[in-house]
Amino acid sequence: MSTQDLILSLGALRASALEEARRVTSVDALTALKVRVLGRKGELTGILRGLKDLAPGDRTTVGQEANRLKDDLEALLDAQQSALEDAAEAGAKGLDVSLPGRKPWVGRRHVLNAVEDELVDIFHGLGFTVGDGPEVEDDFHNFTALNLPPGHPAREAHDTYYVSESLVLRTHTSPCWIRAMEQGPPPLRMVFPGRVYRAEAVDASHMDQFHQIDGIYVEEDRPVTLADLKSTLVEAARRIIGGKIKTRFRPGYFPFTEPSAELDVSCIRCGGQGTVQGGERCAVCRGSGWLEILGAGMVHPAVFKAVGYDPDRVTGFAFGCGLDRIAMLRYDIPDIRLLLENDLRFLEQFS
Ligand code: DAH
Repeated sequence: MSTQDLILSLGALRASALEEARRVTSVDALTALKVRVLGRKGELTGILRGLKDLAPGDRTTVGQEANRLKDDLEALLDAQQSALEDAAEAGAKGLDVSLPGRKPWVGRRHVLNAVEDELVDIFHGLGFTVGDGPEVEDDFHNFTALNLPPGHPAREAHDTYYVSESLVLRTHTSPCWIRAMEQGPPPLRMVFPGRVYRAEAVDASHMDQFHQIDGIYVEEDRPVTLADLKSTLVEAARRIIGGKIKTRFRPGYFPFTEPSAELDVSCIRCGGQGTVQGGERCAVCRGSGWLEILGAGMVHPAVFKAVGYDPDRVTGFAFGCGLDRIAMLRYDIPDIRLLLENDLRFLEQFS
């Protein structure tokens, strides 16, 4: 073939091959076209075979033209191939409107927060506002101001984590009301929920962190009495545990209250009988029929003195209640560790 003929053939092949490549609708057709034009026995190869008969100068010109066609065609075929593959994939993964939807994951309140919120709500209804305090507390607020001076034997009852000589992880939420009283004069009616720490050996009913809610009600020149304490706490207990319970106050001891008491409610499992079906001893109250739910008392004058209140004019009551225990009683939770382990299988059981 003459140089002229070769160039014409190449032009014709370029026009037809590119046109055909643009129109392919399947990967199979595309592969066939590739083999037909660029394959070992393909049309372009056939044309190139004629190169050897040309003069060296023409050979270069025609060779370059042939390479350009090869490059252009390959680029076009590659682009077409990915377009076809993308289309096939989109088709396979296309929207299937008959599939059931996926539920979005919705978080929920922790059971302890739920109990805390409920108690805060109950006390709000009784005229209390909410406050808090630091979890790393100084010795003065955690102990001394609560009539537990250094060396007081009742300090022993709190297995304290010391951060330094004078700083502790608070062992109760009672220091919160010391801080609240320091902030301003009576009257004061507040509750303080929060996390507390004790260096306890951990088991099903003891954790080295747990939760309390403390409360205080103080007045100046208007006596707050034990009757106020009893009516407030019995009402709160009825609302958080349930209407039908019986309650009783037992004398207790706390250095920061005098007199001090513990409030028991009739056992929610056995209804105060001490036994369950078949006469077996109730495991929740261990047969006593009663469950202790909080400590309370009339605020000790030494505490008022420590915060700069006049103990001759100021009276009040305070209380402290374990939130974990209330949650465990209410929901029949057998192990306190479940409350802090963050196992979703446990947490998802509560709304
Ligand atoms: N803070 C006490 C404790 O953790 C509980 C307590 C008892 C708090 C009597 C009070 C109270 O406010 O008046 O054991």
